[in-house]
Amino acid sequence: MTELSKLILDRIRDVPDYPKPGVLFKDITPLLADHEAFSAVVEELARLCQGCDKVVGIEARGFILAAPVAFRAGAGFVPVRKKGKLPAETFEASYDLEYGSAVIEVHRDAFAPGDRVLIVDDVLATGGTARATIELVRGAGAEVVGAAVLMELAFLRGREKLDDVDLRSLVIV
Ligand code: PRP
Repeated sequence: MTELSKLILDRIRDVPDYPKPGVLFKDITPLLADHEAFSAVVEELARLCQGCDKVVGIEARGFILAAPVAFRAGAGFVPVRKKGKLPAETFEASYDLEYGSAVIEVHRDAFAPGDRVLIVDDVLATGGTARATIELVRGAGAEVVGAAVLMELAFLRGREKLDDVDLRSLVIV
């Protein structure tokens, strides 16, 4: 295990039965509260944005990572939000949830044509959110140079939905 993996894994708290019985929630707040670990994560993610123009963060926990990564990498930050939260004209994409579906949006003018984009989120689970985000970014005229997550839950096999992008996970559990 690398030093960074240990720094991360030691600061992720498992919360049983949240948000519902049978789910083991991965709580990243202890990591965020630790300057050494948080800054190491931001540095590592920012390295993946070399030469990129924008970092996309996915609401809500993705924002916490993507904004400092954009700042550190010298790139712009673009929020992908749940439907109804962005004020100007948007593109939207939907994805399946366990029960029903969800819609996410990005502003139509969020990217310049051909912008090189890194997508950042905290957790990759089923991959539905990341897949929809890739379609949104491409549909808005930008190029996805990669997707990066703090933690990948391998047993949910989200990676299989993202086989056309360079996906980096700082830890895989
Ligand atoms: C979580 C997480 C990812 C997504 C991963 O967000 O932050 O965005 O789920 O799941 P998936 O790979 O199965 O799509 P959530 O929708 O819970 O929103 P939040 O960050 O606002 O809590």
